[in-house]
Amino acid sequence: MQFSEKKQALLRLLADGCFHSGTELAQQLNFSRSALWKQINALEEQGIEILAVNGKGYRLKSPVELLDKSNIINSLTAATQQLIAVFDIHDQIDSTNTNLVALSREIPESTGVICLAEQQTAGRGRRGREWVSPFGSNLYCSVLWRFQEGPASLSGLSLAIGVAVIKALNAHGIEGVGLKWPNDIYWQQKKLGGILVEVSGESNGPCSAVIGLGLNLHLSSDKALSIKQDWIDINQILGGNHKISRNQLQASLLEQFFQVISQYTEQSFAQYRDEWRLYDCMQGQAVNLFVGKQIVGGTVLGINDDGLLLLQTQDGKVQCYASGEVSFRRS
Ligand code: BTN
Repeated sequence: MQFSEKKQALLRLLADGCFHSGTELAQQLNFSRSALWKQINALEEQGIEILAVNGKGYRLKSPVELLDKSNIINSLTAATQQLIAVFDIHDQIDSTNTNLVALSREIPESTGVICLAEQQTAGRGRRGREWVSPFGSNLYCSVLWRFQEGPASLSGLSLAIGVAVIKALNAHGIEGVGLKWPNDIYWQQKKLGGILVEVSGESNGPCSAVIGLGLNLHLSSDKALSIKQDWIDINQILGGNHKISRNQLQASLLEQFFQVISQYTEQSFAQYRDEWRLYDCMQGQAVNLFVGKQIVGGTVLGINDDGLLLLQTQDGKVQCYASGEVSFRRS
């Protein structure tokens, strides 16, 4: 869903986070004062926080670098640009993954489709959890890709995407980020982002994968109240004094994603395994693994060649797990 042109124009003026007087805004937008007031209220109803101070005017609680399609596309290599068939940026959407999963059902041959959003009203995490997705502050990104092979050939894809995310972050000077099996982006035992890959199709192929990433850039504590685990954002990692461009980071992520998906079935997870191990932030850690209703305690030995978790249980046995939720055991 796109905001009306009026609302978008107002947002663009307010995006700098500075005060703008009502008179200035109304004049620049060619609005009456009452129309301006109506649009400000409408933005607030969408969850966008606007401060109004007598004598100063209006400003966004925090400045926003709005997503900009041409800025992102122009930062991609020509080879990646050619892989993109559709590129949509929504002001607001229920979930970028839900949107592309629906598209893959309606038009199964769709591929190379990017769906980004400034805000998700029903962002989804793994295991049916909510993904907190306030306006303009983080990145919410999904890519739909059609593979000629069946779902089995995509095992480990979400782990390879984790490696792609780390490469993009490193390229922007964000260091020390790790991967927590299977799909979490971590920094010092706090969650920075998550990957949700949803695959559908015939067992012998073809199949479609929707690759979703949520990455915290600037998440305010009041918006994060419902998050039940320790979390972090890039702003805190960088100490608040080094700003990175949302558009440039989004471009780097897409560049890395397309490199992985466009040749994944030829090379499989084997190509990413060693790098994944370098970033593994759970190796040697005492954990609890939640598999269905079962809780298995043990020490993480790492991943095997197919990306399955290797866990040494208290009786010394090493077991492989294809799915589950790992939590650090704190002493
Ligand atoms: C997780 O760690 O639980 C996975 C989180 C995935 C969140 C992203 S945000 C973009 C895309 N759209 C969604 O609804 N979910 C994914």
